[in-house]
Amino acid sequence: MKLLLPALLLALGAHAVKREDFKECAQTSFCRRLRPLSSKSEVADFTSPYSLGSPSPAVSPHIGTPAKDAAWTFPLTSTLYPDVGFELRVDVLDGDIAQVRVDEVGSASPWRRYNETAKWALLSPEPAHVRASITTKKGVSSIKYGTGLELRINHSPLRIAMLRGGTEEIVFNDRGLFHMEHFRTKEIAIEEEEVVKAEDGEEVKTEEGAEVTTEEPVEVKSEPEEQKPFEATIDRSWFETEDGDLFEEHWKRWRDSKPKGPEAFSLDLTFPRAKHVFGLPEHASPLSLPDTIGEGSYYSEPYRLWNVDIFEYVADSPMALYGAVPLLHAHSAQGTVGVLNLVASETWVDVAHTKGVQTHWISESGIMDLLLLPGPNPTALFEQYATLTGPAQMPPQFATAYHQCRWNYNTQGEVIEVQDRFEEADMPLDVTWLDIEYADEHRYFDWNKKMFPDPVAMLDQVAKLGRKMVAIVDPHIKRTDSFRVYKDSLDLDILIKKADNNNFDGWCWPGSSVWVDFFNPKSWEWWTRMFSFETWADQTKALFVWNDMNEPSVFDGPEITMPKDNIHAGGWEHRDVHNINGMLFHNQTQHAISVREPTKKRPFVLSRAYFAGSHRYGAIWTGDNLGTWEHLAGESAMFLSNSIAGMSFVGADIGGFFGNPGTEMLVRWYQAGAFMPFMRAHAHIDTKRREPYLYDEPIRSHLRDALRLRYTLLPTWYNAFHDAATKGYPVIWPQYAKFPADESGAAVDDQYYVGDSGLLFKPVVVEGATTTEVYLAANEPYYDYFSARMWPARAKPRNITLDTPLDKFPLLIEGGHIFPSRERVRRASSLMGQDPVTLTVALGKNGAHGQLYLDDGETFAWERGEFVHRELAYADGRLRSTQKVPHDAHNAFARSIAAVGVERVRVLGLNKAPSSVTVAGREVQFEWEKGAPKAKEPRAGILTIKNPGVKVVDDWEIVIA
Ligand code: GLC
Repeated sequence: MKLLLPALLLALGAHAVKREDFKECAQTSFCRRLRPLSSKSEVADFTSPYSLGSPSPAVSPHIGTPAKDAAWTFPLTSTLYPDVGFELRVDVLDGDIAQVRVDEVGSASPWRRYNETAKWALLSPEPAHVRASITTKKGVSSIKYGTGLELRINHSPLRIAMLRGGTEEIVFNDRGLFHMEHFRTKEIAIEEEEVVKAEDGEEVKTEEGAEVTTEEPVEVKSEPEEQKPFEATIDRSWFETEDGDLFEEHWKRWRDSKPKGPEAFSLDLTFPRAKHVFGLPEHASPLSLPDTIGEGSYYSEPYRLWNVDIFEYVADSPMALYGAVPLLHAHSAQGTVGVLNLVASETWVDVAHTKGVQTHWISESGIMDLLLLPGPNPTALFEQYATLTGPAQMPPQFATAYHQCRWNYNTQGEVIEVQDRFEEADMPLDVTWLDIEYADEHRYFDWNKKMFPDPVAMLDQVAKLGRKMVAIVDPHIKRTDSFRVYKDSLDLDILIKKADNNNFDGWCWPGSSVWVDFFNPKSWEWWTRMFSFETWADQTKALFVWNDMNEPSVFDGPEITMPKDNIHAGGWEHRDVHNINGMLFHNQTQHAISVREPTKKRPFVLSRAYFAGSHRYGAIWTGDNLGTWEHLAGESAMFLSNSIAGMSFVGADIGGFFGNPGTEMLVRWYQAGAFMPFMRAHAHIDTKRREPYLYDEPIRSHLRDALRLRYTLLPTWYNAFHDAATKGYPVIWPQYAKFPADESGAAVDDQYYVGDSGLLFKPVVVEGATTTEVYLAANEPYYDYFSARMWPARAKPRNITLDTPLDKFPLLIEGGHIFPSRERVRRASSLMGQDPVTLTVALGKNGAHGQLYLDDGETFAWERGEFVHRELAYADGRLRSTQKVPHDAHNAFARSIAAVGVERVRVLGLNKAPSSVTVAGREVQFEWEKGAPKAKEPRAGILTIKNPGVKVVDDWEIVIA
């Protein structure tokens, strides 16, 4: 392997992304066929050929049982294919989410469109419905639901608008770009051509797979009920592009057999009031998605959703990356709405800021399954998205602390050395990671016993320090009879198959490999067993897992992934399920880890590939980034776009995966890392060692400071993770989500807020920067976390400039918040559970609010009420702690931390020294540092109350008089 590696890396492109390894829209036939629709639609008489018949209550649900009066089906026809039946179905779901689906029905073809994306992505395959009513008049059906919401469905031509308070917010098929290619056989395609030839007397091409073009308008053949006659003339060439690749497609040396023929679909969604669209991760692009089409557009290719292993990706590009969440927020100061387009096949999305924002989505296969999220603001959208896909997984506490990874720690001795060196350097560390070289011949589960002679002893030694380890388990399985995992998967017949139904094999780290089909339920129990202590004896409960390469990465496959005509359980093609594939592997692994011990434990599994819903299974990271300023700068926007799409347990390789960052860049990466929800340093095998303890002063101290700051603020991060796990909120919030009414801050994506703490962080990403600008929202004062410098409240937002020499970076607190910290940093976070808490109260115009959530950090007992959750509020000189949600105050966990006290309260922004501070009439000590609110550089007064003598678990009140 050692020899093979450089050759392989060379083959994958040594120094920059090999763009030619990945397709552009025009190189994939369905995108080439359907993208031009948008320019064709600009002709004056362009009309959608699709129209609806009368609605009927849905009686046989595709999924779920519709509540009374909340699901209807409409026959849908295209004048281009009067004999092909389509059906449009509308359901109104819990959260006032409207679901609009289209499928081809009653087709003579043996093929079916893939309709199981929702089954994997949504929390429940049977989402609850809410009450809604329909009226149909003069070819318009109106469905009313929620508060002031309406779906206005124009039957002919097809157009569906979601209105709030009578104003259109989301419009489907406004531009008439909806088109669903129907199933056909090669022969029929030719026949169709001949029929047209006979009718029109036009010359048509009849070569294999070629489509008909004709100058003559095609007459409308059917007229759906209850609507005015369809007078428009449809030019067939608008929707049918000549294409020789309908039934077989070649790209480079690969042939896609495409047995189902063309089955792509196109749709447009217009957001008439929006100024910005956000989302569609994963792309290395700005958060507010720039145009991909139209004159002077920022990008020329659409955003592509197709999970791939991309080598040295470009820091600013719409190219596909490792994960895909087809979720979009459309936003303006007037409101925010969202759309989840549940499709798992290759999808391209064009964005243009014209008449609001116009988007055009093109997918290779599957049914159309749109979920229209009504908002009206980002917070409501997060809740609605969580209603659909579930909230995020509550991570084990250690996973929110610092992770040290590298490709590779090569021996057991090296792992122990890392522990010792962190200890000597007085740097905290929770998790040490093992990349692929721990495994004998890259046969995951099997340790290389020469290098790791006693893994259990090593794990025990690490665990004794209060720390954990993670080992990588990739989805490719070395194809060798001596490997039990391979043998098992063969015997069980659970491998992904080629188009010819033989097991697929391809090339990855171990050489020739096979892939388990996690769509096959037969694989699930088996995979769980792989992680049991009986089957995998060389592990302990201190070992967790990293699932990499699960796009899946196949070195010798098209675009470094699996051929699209591979076959999964149920006979579905890989093309149908590709973007879900990685999520299923992630799901099964995290399940296996959670049930290893007799008491179910919170799993921790990091995945590289993901889809809508993956947040239920664990963390992700942004893959193989580069140790460059450009990549460091781009990460915040990537985190934010992932975060609003549920994937907010996200981080980037600190230091950059590739390259050898200099000390200045490394310090900046660590500072940024301290504010990544997932904080892990990682490096490529060819890079120089760069563990933080390797550096001399002052770099060493800067790195230590960043690590210690993370540990100090762990309780605040835990609050945010708990909100993500219960309410579906992101762990970090972009500016527009916190301040939706502030138009000027909407596109800001280089700074963000941590949960509801009021902490505003901005990484310094410019070489040599000595100052950094920060965008402050209006109406509340801001305080510098470190110096208590103050920016009084203003009626308008503003940019401020902070001094940011290498040891400084912007960390501000918005007034009005209270957040917890633990100031005694220990070797590992697991050792800090009995430590006292500090509360920082940053006064705003109306006092301040906050929370403190604590639980055992590792089991699911919190779901049964074993936690402590305090509401913290400051008003009129009184700081109060009360129970946030009703629960048993004496639960086992609360009893276990009964002795934990509040050791310090820091109040920022009082305008005069208090005369006394009392708790239940008892005077407590305090210090007052006078502020200078009127100075040129205003400073906040700082009141420090030391040891107020209150316990975290109790109700109490501190009176500041
Ligand atoms: C992939 C991963 C990277 C890992 C490497 C070896 O490139 O993205 O993090 O170190 O594989 O496993």
